[in-house]
Amino acid sequence: MDSYRNKNVSASPSYDQREERKTAANEPTLVVMSNRAPIRVVREGSRARLEPTVGGVGTTFLRLLGRNGGLWIAWSEGQAALTPPAPAPHLGFGLSLVDLDEREVSQYYHGMCNRALWPLMHSMVSNCHFDAAHWQQYRAVNRKFAERAATVVPGGSELWIQDFHLALTPRLVRARRTDLPIGVFWHVPFPPVELYRVFPWRSELLEGMLGANLVGFHTPSYTANFLEACERVLGAQVDWSDGRVRYQSGTSRVLPFPLGIPADYFEQLAASPRIRERAQRIRRGLRSPVIVLGVDRLDYTKGILERLLGFERFLEINPAYHRLVTLVLIAVPSRTKLADYVRLKGQVDECVGRIVGRFSSEGWVPIRYLYTQLSTDELAAYYAGADIALLTPLRDGMNLVAKEFIAAHPNDDAVLILSEFAGAAEELTEALLVNPYDSEAIALRLRQAIEMSAETRAQRMSVLREKVRSNSLERWSSEFLGTLRKEFELEAGCTAEAAAH
Ligand code: UDP
Ligand code: G6P
Repeated sequence: MDSYRNKNVSASPSYDQREERKTAANEPTLVVMSNRAPIRVVREGSRARLEPTVGGVGTTFLRLLGRNGGLWIAWSEGQAALTPPAPAPHLGFGLSLVDLDEREVSQYYHGMCNRALWPLMHSMVSNCHFDAAHWQQYRAVNRKFAERAATVVPGGSELWIQDFHLALTPRLVRARRTDLPIGVFWHVPFPPVELYRVFPWRSELLEGMLGANLVGFHTPSYTANFLEACERVLGAQVDWSDGRVRYQSGTSRVLPFPLGIPADYFEQLAASPRIRERAQRIRRGLRSPVIVLGVDRLDYTKGILERLLGFERFLEINPAYHRLVTLVLIAVPSRTKLADYVRLKGQVDECVGRIVGRFSSEGWVPIRYLYTQLSTDELAAYYAGADIALLTPLRDGMNLVAKEFIAAHPNDDAVLILSEFAGAAEELTEALLVNPYDSEAIALRLRQAIEMSAETRAQRMSVLREKVRSNSLERWSSEFLGTLRKEFELEAGCTAEAAAH
């Protein structure tokens, strides 16, 4: 990712200059709006440096906007070094940052976003905590973001809103800016209506989203769940043949757009001498013939404990593989102020400790556990150095790591074991799919992956790689934006026609 950014460093014009250039060329400006900014300031003593934030939204749009320019509206996280009058960082796009006070952060972000909507969207209703004060704050913060968008988005632009934090903003922006195409992409799953129904503010959330011309999901099943919710919760008129929802006076199109990755970038990175050398060093350091890799934010949806239990079971029933297999577990710190995440960290630490204590022997430790965020280069070296990726989310919108791991093996010399409950599993059917709740099945899949012939590995991997290559990030975004423009023009045409009668 750093190299992506570096491409823009020297030549990067200021946001104002870029706006002039776009206007001159008469190109629409892409405006992305998300809760999380794509970069954060990290302080090391007296020095400060910029670091990308981790998560699918950040990595995806940092790459897209870094290449194509645009404007990004996001929460400032109180980072003065990113906010005017500080000089704009050279990113290749503009930033418009929204300040939130302590109560807003606590009730909107921690409360409503992370303790209610996040578990709800992942069908983990027992983790949900619903609180009316949090909902009030969610509304207020969505209004704040919507006002910012209505003010700063230049005419002739497209507004692309990301994820569940800002579900009410499409409707709020639409009320003020009828001139803008508004799209929403939902990076998390959308649960079946039987679960969604428990949400006390279920109608208002859907109504908010339906302010957009286009609503995109990763998979056909999340799309169908959303359409069903519109039909059953709102009583909206749904045309199932083309994904159109008619509600009150507006129409929204709802379609799946499975998110892609910059496959070329990961392929080239993994094939570069620098990363290959680093991958070799990682392997030598681990001194293990077979390396199994797991990478996620430390989140209870990612099935990290379940992965550890599956690995423990594998070691229990396969003593012949002791000393031959090592699991590298990379867990990125995430939402560390929330009790559920603190608890999970304790459980993972304990579980790793137990397995290491139980199975280690002279010169071999079965798990290498890194609780840290890696740069894209370092991550690519781990991808390239591993033989097997073991990704076991209990539920996951897409799981970009699975796709990145595939792209980082241009020689098709690896195996992907992937949870059936990741959005990516709907596309990546040649992976070894597994039920993460079944530790016996994880143990079996591991053995199958280790013993798979080089020929079978290559056959499966080459199909997977072709799938990942054919859905590039650029293609994904141009399909979404192309559809958004068409839907907007269609809706504008209908409104003009209705006004004429
Ligand atoms: N990632 C990273 N450094 C790390 C671990 C992950 O940059 O140490 C990136 C990874 O490359 C991927 C994103 O974080 O693009 C994680 O996206 P994913 O869809 O797998 O999961 P999410 O965190 O969005 O739930
Ligand atoms: C997931 C969500 C993103 C979010 C990311 C990191 O990928 O879909 O919207 O940014 O997790 O979570 P955080 O709460 O740190 O933004």
